[in-house]
Amino acid sequence: MSKLRFAIVGCGVIHGTHIDAIRALPDDAELVAVCDEVPELADKTAQKHGVRAFHDLTAMLEGADFDVLNVCTPSGMHAKHGVQGARAGKHVVCEKPIDVSLEAADALIAACRDNRVKLEVISQARYSSGMRQLRKYLDEGRLGTLCYAEATTKWYRTQEYYDSGGWRGTWELDGGGALMNQGVHYVDQLRWVMGPVKSVTATMATRAHERIEVEDVVTAAIEFESGAVGTLLASTAMYPGFKQALEVYGTGGTVIVENSRARHAQFTDGKEERGQHKLAAYPPEIKDFQVLSAPDQGGASGDAPAQGASDPTAISLGGHVAHFKDLIDAIRDDRETFMNGQEARNALELIVGVYRAARTGERVHFPL
Ligand SMILES: NC(=O)c1ccc[n+]([C@@H]2O[C@H](COP(=O)([O-])OP(=O)(O)OC[C@H]3O[C@@H](n4cnc5c(N)ncnc54)[C@H](O)[C@@H]3O)[C@@H](O)[C@H]2O)c1
Repeated sequence: MSKLRFAIVGCGVIHGTHIDAIRALPDDAELVAVCDEVPELADKTAQKHGVRAFHDLTAMLEGADFDVLNVCTPSGMHAKHGVQGARAGKHVVCEKPIDVSLEAADALIAACRDNRVKLEVISQARYSSGMRQLRKYLDEGRLGTLCYAEATTKWYRTQEYYDSGGWRGTWELDGGGALMNQGVHYVDQLRWVMGPVKSVTATMATRAHERIEVEDVVTAAIEFESGAVGTLLASTAMYPGFKQALEVYGTGGTVIVENSRARHAQFTDGKEERGQHKLAAYPPEIKDFQVLSAPDQGGASGDAPAQGASDPTAISLGGHVAHFKDLIDAIRDDRETFMNGQEARNALELIVGVYRAARTGERVHFPL
């Protein structure tokens, strides 16, 4: 099959990672067009990469010949732009979060299903070496019965970051603050590992930033359907920016994934594993998880650079490459994508539930 042609809508912070990831798959993918409503941004990117520039998504869908639409616009526009792409017969790569409301997420999922196109939502931490290692232990049953899990995002964002775009820090287009924008990565890991949620209680506050509508610190206590318990913390108010981590405690042992790496793995059978694990140790046949090795650029994983704790532009490349490769293979084999709409919706549902609990002060029960 010939190369799949990609086009990007939204030429802001994250679009460069999408371009680099497309270029990292030269046998399978090529960039053909970019679009931004700010003409200079689209024109500059188009010129740099020798592709066509558009200033309006409808015009790009009508005027450019391509297979995959990469949605890199503000979070609250993801479904709108993804639905437009799906209706035009384009497969959709959607940046995280899938959108900011469950209704919007459902509309995107339905549009992709009805138009028989694939949907891949970015959650690059799933491809990190630490998460792969944790999944391996879970699949092997080494953690036993899961008791407790904790997902934390102790990050820092400056006031200038929130001031840098009119959509940042708004309920309408950012959909929330530290949890929806930054915490979503590890909310997805927590939900992926621990399974469906039964109920949550939560508290949130805005302490370190001005001119934002949303929270910069939030905590939640979670009851999972399995009977296990969890907590969630997400903040952009923790100067200078610390770890993003998932700690999982089971009857068989403990695994701690910190900044995408498995920092600690200790089991009741006496075996202890410390330090970073090689991706090669993760077998490619795992049933629900397709392991994809990314090219050398940016590391062969979705590992997050540590400076992501304070720098919103520090984004590793490997996870995006792995997502794109998964989408390409899903299109060619006509199978479901690894990070499909429902998976992304699961993380969004937990986030929406946490906000509802924090606003009302009441325990929120799932499904919403
Ligand atoms: N996976 C990650 O690690 C990661 C990192 C950063 C951002 N993101 C996600 O990517 C999305 C974009 O974030 P960003 O930081 O790049 O934002 P940004 O503000 O830097 O870029 C968004 C771009 O979209 C353009 N745009 C807005 N409305 C448009 C429209 N109707 N038509 C065409 N273009 C339009 C804007 O002009 C802007 O250039 C967000 O949803 C964010 O959550 C993901």
